[in-house]
Amino acid sequence: MSRLQSERLILRPWEERDRDFWADLNADPEVMRFFEATRDRRESDIVFERLREHFARNGFGFWVLEKKEDGTQIGFTGLHVADFPAQFTPAIEIGWRLKRQEWKKGYASEAALASLAHAFGPMGLEEVVSFAVEGNEASFAVMRRIGMRRRPDLDFDHPYLPAHSPLRRHLTYAITAAQWQESEAPTGA
Ligand SMILES: CC(C)(COP(=O)(O)OP(=O)(O)OC[C@H]1O[C@@H](n2cnc3c(N)ncnc32)[C@H](O)[C@@H]1OP(=O)(O)O)[C@@H](O)C(=O)NCCC(=O)NCCS
Repeated sequence: MSRLQSERLILRPWEERDRDFWADLNADPEVMRFFEATRDRRESDIVFERLREHFARNGFGFWVLEKKEDGTQIGFTGLHVADFPAQFTPAIEIGWRLKRQEWKKGYASEAALASLAHAFGPMGLEEVVSFAVEGNEASFAVMRRIGMRRRPDLDFDHPYLPAHSPLRRHLTYAITAAQWQESEAPTGA
């Protein structure tokens, strides 16, 4: 299973010792502001198993971000198979979630660049997509910072959210292998 690194971070698969960290991350209402609700321990444990299964099946996933400086976990960033019904799926998405105390330090963008280098390098992908709930400006800023381009033609209503949900509308960005190679973005490796 892949393990990556960037200047300040180790990106690694989930281990049993990360279970409490994951539950704490999902219990913070500010971190979960653009989700339907925070997750209780039981719900967090279910998703924890799915994250680990994704790594076992695919060899990549939403990597835990561990600070090189002190070994603490700060969140996740990585690549995930998006297979819900939408016009651009199945696709590989890039996503991120950090604990609040670690926002605004550039960690999400740093880890995302390392993830894209892996996607377009060893994995040989043609395209990576990213999407977020309309209004999640911090997430869109990461997408732009790493060279992704807005793709209004791929915007969608998330099929797993109820029709009346204010969180249903998702805006989409994407980057192709050619655009990645052309960009002057650092590799993050
Ligand atoms: C989305 C999320 C990961 C973005 O985190 P973030 O810390 O804003 O993103 P970055 O790591 O790219 O940090 C960039 C900020 O750090 C600052 N920064 C500080 N030191 C930096 C450094 N060494 N390098 C780069 N940026 C640095 C930048 O100036 C920038 O701030 P700005 O927006 O005021 O310009 C975070 O808001 C989050 O976890 N949200 C909740 C979960 C969520 O909604 N996830 C997305 C679902 S789709």
